[in-house]
Amino acid sequence: MTTSPQQHDLATAAAPAWWTDTVVYQIYPRSFADSNGDGIGDLGGILAHLDHLEALGVGVIWLSPIYRSPQDDNGYDISDYQDIDPSFGTLEQFDGLLEAVHARGMKLVMDLVVNHTSDEHPWFVESRSSPDSPKRDWYWWRTPRRGMEAGAPGAEPTNWQSIFSGPAWELDEASGEYYLHLFSTKQPDLNWENPEVRRAVHAMMRWWLDRGVDGFRMDVINMISKDVAADGHLHDGPPVEGTPYGDGSASYTNGPRIHEFLQEMHREVFAGRDAQLLTVGEMPGVTVEEAVLFTDPARAEVDMVFQFEHVNLDHGPGGKFDPRPLRLTDLKASLGRWQEGLEEVGWNSLYWNNHDQPRVVSRFGDDSPEHRVASATCLATLLHLHRGTPYVYQGEELGMTNADFGSIEDFRDIESVNHYRHAVAAGADPAAVLEGLRWTGRDNARTPVQWSAGEHAGFTTGTPWIPVNPNHDVVNADAARADPGSVFHHYRRLIELRRTEPAVALGDFTMLVPEHEQVYAFTRRLGDVELLVLANVSGEEVRADLPDAAAWAGAEVLLGNLPVSSAPADVTVLAPWEARVHRRVHGAAGQH
Ligand code: GLC
Ligand code: CA
Repeated sequence: MTTSPQQHDLATAAAPAWWTDTVVYQIYPRSFADSNGDGIGDLGGILAHLDHLEALGVGVIWLSPIYRSPQDDNGYDISDYQDIDPSFGTLEQFDGLLEAVHARGMKLVMDLVVNHTSDEHPWFVESRSSPDSPKRDWYWWRTPRRGMEAGAPGAEPTNWQSIFSGPAWELDEASGEYYLHLFSTKQPDLNWENPEVRRAVHAMMRWWLDRGVDGFRMDVINMISKDVAADGHLHDGPPVEGTPYGDGSASYTNGPRIHEFLQEMHREVFAGRDAQLLTVGEMPGVTVEEAVLFTDPARAEVDMVFQFEHVNLDHGPGGKFDPRPLRLTDLKASLGRWQEGLEEVGWNSLYWNNHDQPRVVSRFGDDSPEHRVASATCLATLLHLHRGTPYVYQGEELGMTNADFGSIEDFRDIESVNHYRHAVAAGADPAAVLEGLRWTGRDNARTPVQWSAGEHAGFTTGTPWIPVNPNHDVVNADAARADPGSVFHHYRRLIELRRTEPAVALGDFTMLVPEHEQVYAFTRRLGDVELLVLANVSGEEVRADLPDAAAWAGAEVLLGNLPVSSAPADVTVLAPWEARVHRRVHGAAGQH
């Protein structure tokens, strides 16, 4: 391969961070693979499937929480940060897994859930035991609203609605005080204003790094700083329609001390350690401008963020459970703005899926037998060719689809179950509420990984904690690995391309035809090398009215998701769900 002068400069002047050309794979352990037949995925199951991840070519594995937990929110409610939940395995097994991951040249990143603990964590048990407890101030305890009786309707200290429905405050009968829980009642928020809390979290993080883990994905980390007045007062938020509650998010999103807390964490935990670690902050509501600050290497906060703008575009007026069709022009405007905003400083994560989002092939693609593979690989291509670090969520590389949930009894997720209960109690039509859950419910992402066409898709020999999608007879890893035209092999090629073509990792980004309703098109340019990415996000043949089409006539096809000739005469015509990456070299590069 030839090296242009520009590339050479890039490589020597400031070596790009190692995560620019790698891909992260997320495991939701409960649903990945079960090794002991109890129906719950576990560490043994992960160990047994490392070959699959190595074949895919991912560089980093992120594990959703495996710590000791009552499992109210499937492990995002932690009762012991320094132990493994018995349903997942033991610390010894964890050490073995870490070693095996490292032996294959991959890294392992843990989930860090420190906005809240479980209500069964000893810190909270002690905090709750008495208003005089030395740990009382580790959480957010408040007396009832002035002039109101504890427990009376509306007596909560603020009007905030919990992200999992209902009020964000729970009354503790014994003391007559309320504690804050932005999520479930079993997930009390830690008080980061208290320096002892911060020191305890830092110590726990160092303990994991000393054990050999390669970094952290930080759960709702931009919610740890609350906007609290000097006298301890927290402010009401604007009313949420159809509920007695208010939206408190302005008081707990990107709060006044968030940058200070992250910089302190960086100093106390990461400074002086190996630069090969990874930190990624999950940040609902983060803006491009804030993301630049969070990820500017000079500020030493986090390496990259998860932002939510593009996965909120199909939310209707009633929120996530009131979905509306995605407009491609909105998606381009949003992702394009993020590309531009982080062009000079900072770095972004790229994702369609995780354990909180419905399956992308059902959501933005077409999961019918006719278009499932093409639409899954089309969406993958356009995402992975952006600048940023791509994340693949388990099963995404197989083109797994949403589930076919029937009644409310089929749902397991506390967010869905609570939403149903509250919405129906408030008078909503149960059938309509259910329809929303079927589209956007998080359980869509949590059905077991489909390893084979066999019983329970090879996930377990027992009874899975949530049923397997019946389409595992067609959609499964065995079939995908054996078929060169599968979604799996396309993801493998995309992951490889990021490593072999520097323009994918580092090239400039330019959006083309932003107003086109079906075509997502852009270029990436690094030195003399320019890539053209074309994706037909529709089930009909289209023409991509490119401004510069003639210049690309006959350009090499680096990668495509459908069988095409290596250099189509007219690059602008795209078959249903077709995606292609073309490459050309400018100037005198041919002489090198
Ligand atoms: C994050 C997690 C989600 C969890 C919530 C509370 O959004 O991704 O699964 O329910 O935080 O911890
Ligand atoms: Ca198990």
